[in-house]
Amino acid sequence: MSKNFRRVGAALFATLTATALVACSSEQAPSDAGSDGGDAAAATDTIVLGFSQVGAESGWRAANTKSIQDTLTAENGFELKFSDAQQKQENQIQAIRSYIQQGVDVIAFSPVVETGWDAVLQEAKAANIPVILTDRAVDSTDDTLYESFIGSDFVLEGQMAGEWAVEQYDGEGYKAVELQGTTGAAPMIDRQQGFADAIAGSDIEVIDSQTGNFTRTEGKQVMEGFLQKYDDIDLVFAHNDDMGLGAIEAIEAAGKVPGEDIKIITVDAVKDGMQALADGKINYIVECNPLLGPDLAEIAKKVIAGEEVPKRIVVKDEAFDQEAAKEALPDRQY
Ligand code: AHR
Repeated sequence: MSKNFRRVGAALFATLTATALVACSSEQAPSDAGSDGGDAAAATDTIVLGFSQVGAESGWRAANTKSIQDTLTAENGFELKFSDAQQKQENQIQAIRSYIQQGVDVIAFSPVVETGWDAVLQEAKAANIPVILTDRAVDSTDDTLYESFIGSDFVLEGQMAGEWAVEQYDGEGYKAVELQGTTGAAPMIDRQQGFADAIAGSDIEVIDSQTGNFTRTEGKQVMEGFLQKYDDIDLVFAHNDDMGLGAIEAIEAAGKVPGEDIKIITVDAVKDGMQALADGKINYIVECNPLLGPDLAEIAKKVIAGEEVPKRIVVKDEAFDQEAAKEALPDRQY
């Protein structure tokens, strides 16, 4: 543990909290999550950062973990303590409590679900340990419990997916099924809402929705169930690429052609998803950028240095059709 930073952090905490309150409604301009994260503060000592990751459920998550581990290195001024919660909130709470006990300088985590964090975040606050949220938000009325939230706008992602569906398929009476992410997770709640808002008023109808927990295996299982239950599915909206890739397997096993008989829209744009899009098995992908390590490093350094940080950093996302996927694939980092 870096004693210097803990002392400085404790002394600055009251100021930071006041700053956070003032900045609570401020939003930073969209970030491309692409800087090296190294120039934010003149760090003179190692920052010990405890990170609680959601799990290893998807290609997106693997890329996100790599970005964090590649950026929060000793060369960049960090000692990273990393734990994988295996998609369980109780494991994340346990990890955060352990980081508090160890007296780390900063805690960062990507909350598996939105609710139920206030008690443990109060404990971190009482211990004067600043918290940074990455990727997913918490649903709390007290935004002094964390310094900053770095991540994509999931409602917008769902909306972009729905707008494209309307543009392509409105007027054809499409029946859609939705493969939802982990129940209660911010991207599940927000993508569902964004998609529903965008298709409202069109003749696209969501006839069923079920969670596939953001995994390929469960996405396949849920799609198998949908195919047994309905013989008139025209469109799948999968909340991530992995579930969409599972759905492709189920559709092919049922003797139908993914991307033709049943259209597929997903979110993430990881390499496997982009390859399926280039191959015509997926029809459209809205990106969710997982490269959050550099922004996390920069914000952690600023917080420790007592600098003001934005309460919300919105990561910029693109969207891809088949042609765009073919173009982007050769240089795709994840
Ligand atoms: O929170 C981001 C989501 O979590 C990604 O879209 C999904 O693939 C991951 O599991």
